[in-house]
Amino acid sequence: MAKSRRDNNGNDASPKAKISRENISQALSLFKYLKPYRIKFVWALLFIALSAFTTSLFPLFLGKMIDAAVPGTTIPVAGNTGGLGLDLKNIHWSVNTTLLFIFLQLGAQTIFSFMRVYLLTEIGEKGLARMRQDVYSKLLSMPMSFYAEKRVGELSNRISSDLSQIQDAISFTFAEFLRAVFTLIIGLFFIFWVSTKLALIMLAVVPVVAVLAVVFGSRIRKMSGKAQDQLAESGTIVQETFQGIAIVKAFTNEYYEIARYAKSIYAVVQTAITNARYRGAFIAFMIFSVFGGIAFVMWNGINMVQAGELKIGLLVMFVIFSVLVGTTFAGFADMFSQLQKTLGATQSIREILRSDGEPVALNDIMVEPAFTLHGNVTFDHIAFSYPSRKDVQVLKDISLTANNGEQIALVGPSGAGKSTITSLLLRFYKPDSGTIFFDGKPAAAFPLSQLRKQMALVPQDIILFGGTIKENIAYGKPGATDAEIIAAAEKANAHLFISSFPEKYDTVVGEHGMKLSGGQRQRVAIARAILKNPSILILDEATSSLDSESEQLVQEALENLMKGRTSFVIAHRLSTIRNADKIMVIDKGVIAESGTHNELMNRNGLYRRLNEMQFDISELT
Ligand SMILES: Nc1ncnc2c1ncn2[C@@H]1O[C@H](COP(=O)(O)OP(=O)(O)O)[C@@H](O)[C@H]1O
Ligand SMILES: [Mg+2]
Repeated sequence: MAKSRRDNNGNDASPKAKISRENISQALSLFKYLKPYRIKFVWALLFIALSAFTTSLFPLFLGKMIDAAVPGTTIPVAGNTGGLGLDLKNIHWSVNTTLLFIFLQLGAQTIFSFMRVYLLTEIGEKGLARMRQDVYSKLLSMPMSFYAEKRVGELSNRISSDLSQIQDAISFTFAEFLRAVFTLIIGLFFIFWVSTKLALIMLAVVPVVAVLAVVFGSRIRKMSGKAQDQLAESGTIVQETFQGIAIVKAFTNEYYEIARYAKSIYAVVQTAITNARYRGAFIAFMIFSVFGGIAFVMWNGINMVQAGELKIGLLVMFVIFSVLVGTTFAGFADMFSQLQKTLGATQSIREILRSDGEPVALNDIMVEPAFTLHGNVTFDHIAFSYPSRKDVQVLKDISLTANNGEQIALVGPSGAGKSTITSLLLRFYKPDSGTIFFDGKPAAAFPLSQLRKQMALVPQDIILFGGTIKENIAYGKPGATDAEIIAAAEKANAHLFISSFPEKYDTVVGEHGMKLSGGQRQRVAIARAILKNPSILILDEATSSLDSESEQLVQEALENLMKGRTSFVIAHRLSTIRNADKIMVIDKGVIAESGTHNELMNRNGLYRRLNEMQFDISELT
């Protein structure tokens, strides 16, 4: 597969794929999304054919009109009678009759064109909606390793542009292609029907020009692709700058950013000017060859008219048909590149649809009694390395037991593997060796969604969704009542600050919860977890980014949350986990020490050292 040149710069163009029989037949497998609309599809095909046919009648009538008006053209010319049983070439209609025919033809054509556009758009939109939904469901059920390997923003851009490309193909390119084929066939038929001799002369000129135009044109397209790349690049600069505007201003680097932007803009100008030479030459060439070609054919035709071989109206008909055929032919180049892009687009969409997601439930499920957790967790000799970095063994040999209701603290230097342990607990990944047991049963005995339904995670960086506070809390239990939400907020020490907002629970939190402070966001997340009422709770450095005042409030909220559940607490500030039932000191993928705070302080080990280090720092600040 040929990778698109714009792939790496965040530009959204779909990559092109080779047009091969295999690629096409695989792409056609996506037609199953159009299946419910197949009857409408057949109608659309019919309307495309009809509209192409009626379009071609226009030059015919126009020619006839001229013949009706120009005197002395009623002399019959030699000609075949066509398939209609009447000699269409020599038939004489009055000017008014031809006008009537033209309006009849135009009337029919408007209906056909309207129907074709309407039907194909409907089919494209509806079919694509289903495809989008499937792709989205599939993506959501992908394992975490999938997301670790791909940049999510890029991925979602890619997918939305690929889907648009496919939709365009269904609603537009496909129709254009068929129309072009029909027009070409009908146009060529009429051209030969008017005059075989003139048709052959014309065909000696047109393909030469067309091929040159295609070659020249594709070169220019490639070059304007480069300009677009550069433009996208400068767009990225703008985006980055505004995202980090606080940093730009704080460092007084406005001038630096302006210079960076100017540099990239002038690169675009440079490319565009180079392109302009080629484009100018191309347009000049096209004007010369198209009009030159028409003049040449006309000259030949006029000679034939003077020799009495052709009527003037037929000649006009012929020229219009030739232009129609010529432009249609030139349009194929663009369609060809559209087809390649569409094939590329279907390739990545099919890849996603084909891949195996996690076996998660894609409907709203209840915890089944058989799978209800009591909160006993055992890690039995767990070893693990991330699929994307197989050579680094993150966890070497981890064994631990957490009993129902216990608080287990995981501490240790950053990068030791603490978060990784919680990821395994949530079954984001499977351990390479060893087994995780829940209530004595291996994790594999539980359906994935049943397990996750009974755990809650409060991470360090809380991401709130862009709705109201109420919606964000209710995320822990979709369909929760207002009373439940308020009760959860109260336990999370969040009710007071929420009530102080003018719109209370209906306050919109803004993108990523930007309108709330860190501590407030944390407490919304805790309320969410309380509402979920999990048996197992995971707090991953939930208080480490807070100031001491909100830490106090959050700590209280966390104590409320941990009551009666098994909790895994990763803490940066060791003062917050002093009362934990067990403290596990993780270092380089193994448990270096474990015990209660007092036990560990009495040993001259890593825990005590870490404590002493933090003590020094907190004394200073
Ligand atoms: N998704 C990932 N893919 C590959 N390596 C990872 C991934 N996440 C974490 N790591 C690596 O695993 C090690 C342990 O990370 P982590 O469990 O997050 O440590 P911490 O104890 O600070 O929570 C680190 O060396 C980190 O670079
Ligand atoms: Mg971590």
